[in-house]
Amino acid sequence: MKVLAVSGSLRAGSYNTRLLRAAAEAAPEGVEVELWDGIGDLPIYSEDLEGGPLPDSVQRLRRHWAGADAILFATPEYNGSVPGGLKNAVDWASRPVREGALKNKTVAVVGASTGQFGAMWAQQDLRKILGIAGARVVGPELPVSRAHEGFDENVHERLRDVLEALELAADPVAAAA
Ligand SMILES: Cc1cc2nc3c(=O)[nH]c(=O)nc-3n(C[C@H](O)[C@H](O)[C@H](O)COP(=O)(O)O)c2cc1C
Repeated sequence: MKVLAVSGSLRAGSYNTRLLRAAAEAAPEGVEVELWDGIGDLPIYSEDLEGGPLPDSVQRLRRHWAGADAILFATPEYNGSVPGGLKNAVDWASRPVREGALKNKTVAVVGASTGQFGAMWAQQDLRKILGIAGARVVGPELPVSRAHEGFDENVHERLRDVLEALELAADPVAAAA
């Protein structure tokens, strides 16, 4: 099963991107985690752009997100919520309404911050907006606090739990094998 991994941070040294790399290492057998970094290429969403030929960046987003067996998001927290770039990507992927790339897509959310709450509010908001966009949000929340201090063994175990939950929901036959 292929899990697309989407970081909400464009920062070169992002702890959230690092968390997704750790997820790739912690993945159970049969689950392949592939990082996708097209968020920064997207224009700001406007319904006017839906009328003409879609920008390549939007076509890529819709093709890659729609083609994934499941998507794992790692979000930072900006001012108590999801960073604007990630929200913008979700908005693009939510359209056309009822046929968007997120419709019935199995997704999970984790998050890291340098503070003590591990991007908890951002994760809650992201779960909410993904659900509204038609995704099936599964798995436990995983708030990774004080991310600059590194990820301990518990974080790796919990990443594996999240990926197992994704596999169970997206591909129950393979998960049972
Ligand atoms: C604009 C901005 C707003 C932030 N707001 C919050 C916040 O509300 N809560 C929090 O825990 N951390 C906040 N932070 C700190 C981020 O959690 C921290 O920079 C984190 O490392 C960002 O994720 P990244 O390493 O994946 O880029 C904020 C950082 C920035 C740049």
